[in-house]
Amino acid sequence: MVPRCYQSVASALLLLSQVASTSFAFKFTPTGQTVQLDGASYYIPPDVVSTITVSKHLKKALDSAGGLLPFTVVNANSFDYGERDFSQAITSYTSTDDVFSKSFLEAIYVQYSGVSSHKYPGFSAPKLSGNSSVGVVTTGFASNTSSIPAGPYFVTSTGAVHQAWKLFSDVQGAFLETTIANQDGTFSVLPANVEGQSLAIAVPSRLYFTKTEDKPLAGVRLGIKDIYDIAGLRTSNGNRAWYHFYPPANETALTVQRLIDAGAIIVGKMKTSQFANGETATADWVDYHEPFNPRGDGYQDTSSSSSGPGAGAAAYDWLDLTLGSDTGGSIRNPSQVQGLFGNRPSWGLVPLDGIMPMAPQLDTPGFLTRHPDIWIAASKVLYQDNITLSHNYPSKIQTIGWPTNNSSVANGLLLSFLDKLSTFLNATTSTLNITEQWTASHPANVTSSIVELMNITYPVLIGQQTTSIRDPFYAAYSAANSGRVPFINPVPMTRWAWADSLPKSSVADAAHNKTIFQTWIHDKILTPSESTCSDSLALYVGGAGTTNYRNAYRKAPGIPYGFDTSKVSNMGSGPDFVIPIGETPYVSNITLQTEYLPVSVDILAAKGCDGMIFGLVQDLIKAGMIKGTKAGYSAVSGEQILF
Ligand SMILES: *[C@@H]1O[C@H](CO)[C@@H](O)[C@H](O)[C@H]1NC(C)=O
Ligand SMILES: *[C@@H]1O[C@H](CO)[C@@H](O)[C@H](O)[C@H]1NC(C)=O
Ligand SMILES: *[C@@H]1O[C@H](CO)[C@@H](O)[C@H](O)[C@H]1NC(C)=O
Ligand SMILES: *[C@@H]1O[C@H](CO)[C@@H](O)[C@H](O)[C@H]1NC(C)=O
Ligand SMILES: *[C@@H]1O[C@H](CO)[C@@H](O)[C@H](O)[C@H]1NC(C)=O
Ligand SMILES: *[C@@H]1O[C@H](CO)[C@@H](O)[C@H](O)[C@H]1NC(C)=O
Ligand SMILES: *[C@@H]1O[C@H](CO)[C@@H](O)[C@H](O)[C@H]1NC(C)=O
Ligand SMILES: *[C@@H]1O[C@H](CO)[C@@H](O)[C@H](O)[C@H]1NC(C)=O
Ligand SMILES: *[C@@H]1O[C@H](CO)[C@@H](O)[C@H](O)[C@H]1NC(C)=O
Ligand SMILES: *[C@@H]1O[C@H](CO)[C@@H](O)[C@H](O)[C@H]1NC(C)=O
Ligand SMILES: *[C@@H]1O[C@H](CO)[C@@H](O)[C@H](O)[C@H]1NC(C)=O
Ligand SMILES: *[C@@H]1O[C@H](CO)[C@@H](O)[C@H](O)[C@H]1NC(C)=O
Repeated sequence: MVPRCYQSVASALLLLSQVASTSFAFKFTPTGQTVQLDGASYYIPPDVVSTITVSKHLKKALDSAGGLLPFTVVNANSFDYGERDFSQAITSYTSTDDVFSKSFLEAIYVQYSGVSSHKYPGFSAPKLSGNSSVGVVTTGFASNTSSIPAGPYFVTSTGAVHQAWKLFSDVQGAFLETTIANQDGTFSVLPANVEGQSLAIAVPSRLYFTKTEDKPLAGVRLGIKDIYDIAGLRTSNGNRAWYHFYPPANETALTVQRLIDAGAIIVGKMKTSQFANGETATADWVDYHEPFNPRGDGYQDTSSSSSGPGAGAAAYDWLDLTLGSDTGGSIRNPSQVQGLFGNRPSWGLVPLDGIMPMAPQLDTPGFLTRHPDIWIAASKVLYQDNITLSHNYPSKIQTIGWPTNNSSVANGLLLSFLDKLSTFLNATTSTLNITEQWTASHPANVTSSIVELMNITYPVLIGQQTTSIRDPFYAAYSAANSGRVPFINPVPMTRWAWADSLPKSSVADAAHNKTIFQTWIHDKILTPSESTCSDSLALYVGGAGTTNYRNAYRKAPGIPYGFDTSKVSNMGSGPDFVIPIGETPYVSNITLQTEYLPVSVDILAAKGCDGMIFGLVQDLIKAGMIKGTKAGYSAVSGEQILF
């Protein structure tokens, strides 16, 4: 056997799994353990996946290792299984899984399926010792109900097999709490940490999971913005007092439950700006520190409010998908500045149960991710029957604020994308100026100025947090804390104070203005079509790689008045999807060198046409016009994040 750098607190596991089933006068909960294997850190959950018969050789190896060994399960379909099959399996494990490593070859378990031990008495393990890294080889027989999924594990002296979860440090500070599922459907805080000055996140081997029709998200590693309730965990909404004041949630948000039921693995809760209000580093994020945007010099703002989901999805290869929310841009903006696919769904198609409200007329749940295929699969789960992918497209493209010359790399990318898209769709392009269109075609009895109509609509609608969030929080907190009031960050504080100054009728007035705008968009700008869902697509510049340094000192917070292109979907209730298309250079005033930031496009369509945009994304990928992005320094080439 090969000597390994291997620390374990082995017998603890054995003991802990027994303790779990015994009753004591005290409450004692086994929470697994952590080990280091050749320099990498692993978390070993307390749950026993299976119990195998410990052979004499395996027992000897276990005894000399202190009772716990890294262990790899491979599947054999026949007794001819040999060195070559084994090598192929290991090569495939190494290339598809970031948890498996050759260090797990200390003990091999060849699991025969489709053959029975009874027919082969005295059968012994195949020789797999051609490679010096392989330790003990042992065998077992899988029944159709009790096979162990292939992959890396840990085995104890009693033959208890435990999963291997690899630990990664949240070096970008994207998470608030990292989690592990309990067997009863609730979640606990992950009881582990690693070097890196941040929380540790545990991810299971990808080899344990097989996607099926019922479990289209099997093994997809998912982070959740911390405004969604997850049973067993506290929710912070980005506020420390809230986190500590309220008990853990007793129910999981409906959207999160849909994802869990489809096989997704929740690895943690991720940072949100406070109560999902728009905040920028540095002064605004008082309660928690804004996560670090991994792109370029590493000191660009992540944007908000789905800041953690954006930073995490952009930074970590081991994280596949994040769930955010968008009221006024909270999914789109972090996606744009971090080179991610992100969707603000048509309002109303995805339920809001178990999610902190900002403005119920505007709130939407949606994803941020590098992987368009996972994005689409997860969206089918999220929207359920409220989405059908379609592949008939409009032949009209309207562009809003599009560049007209190739004076910068970003402009060149945007123009070239538009060229290719209009060719691909055989579509005409025309420019759209919402302000001018409104003036030309607004309803007769309403103001001809779009800014007048919309100037205060957004801040009035999000001001509903005063009654949905602040008042009940203050009342309960004060009653429990001798009249004290909890701390609130400057941005929500300022917005709430402004909302207090409004007459009671404002919310109804704002909702009415929104309806007027939504009707106008539906009638004049993005009209429904029977054959193509939406009569046209509208494109606007999502991100042009402009800098927004996180070390900037900014003005005191104000009220988000006004009208801009990002409000077309908020107020129009239609879909708004961010598609990354490349990156553009800039000279960083941090590194004093040329660095790169993402460029992206936003696509709008008529309300309810989310499935048509997803269909288009699939076809643009097939045509090679867009592709998934990478984690790290660059959305295009990946690479090491700068610190
Ligand atoms: C065994 O060694 C061969 C040749 O060095 C190599 O190609 C193969 O991948 C190795 N197999 C394992 C399981 O390490
Ligand atoms: C497992 O095998 C038994 C007996 O061969 C059979 O009755 C049963 O349906 C099988 N179960 C599954 C899940 O395939
Ligand atoms: C969860 O807690 C809420 C509020 O504390 C309570 O109203 C509700 O009945 C609880 N639900 C369950 C399933 O226990
Ligand atoms: C689909 O959308 C409708 C309309 O907003 C909503 O009432 C319904 O709950 C949604 N269905 C699902 C499965 O979420
Ligand atoms: C739209 O038109 C208004 C009024 O003419 C003008 O101020 C604004 O700059 C135009 N917007 C764009 C993106 O061209
Ligand atoms: C290129 O377009 C930008 C606006 O995107 C404009 O400011 C600039 O003047 C244009 N340059 C040339 C050379 O036309
Ligand atoms: C800008 O460059 C792109 C790609 O080189 C090209 O497709 C496009 O026609 C150019 N547009 C203009 C306005 O020069
Ligand atoms: C493109 O659209 C035009 C009308 O807008 C039509 O005449 C032409 O046949 C279409 N070409 C293709 C390849 O579909
Ligand atoms: C304008 O008129 C329409 C139809 O008569 C009505 O539904 C709408 O409420 C009116 N809008 C305002 C702002 O009065
Ligand atoms: C928007 O409303 C604010 C507050 O009432 C006001 O100060 C500002 O001038 C308005 N802006 C426009 C463009 O009407
Ligand atoms: C609604 O629109 C009217 C103009 O039609 C504007 O005066 C008013 O301030 C708007 N109110 C809200 C709350 O958006
Ligand atoms: C970089 O530029 C930003 C924005 O102009 C500024 O706030 C910041 O202080 C600059 N940083 C350095 C190191 O010069």
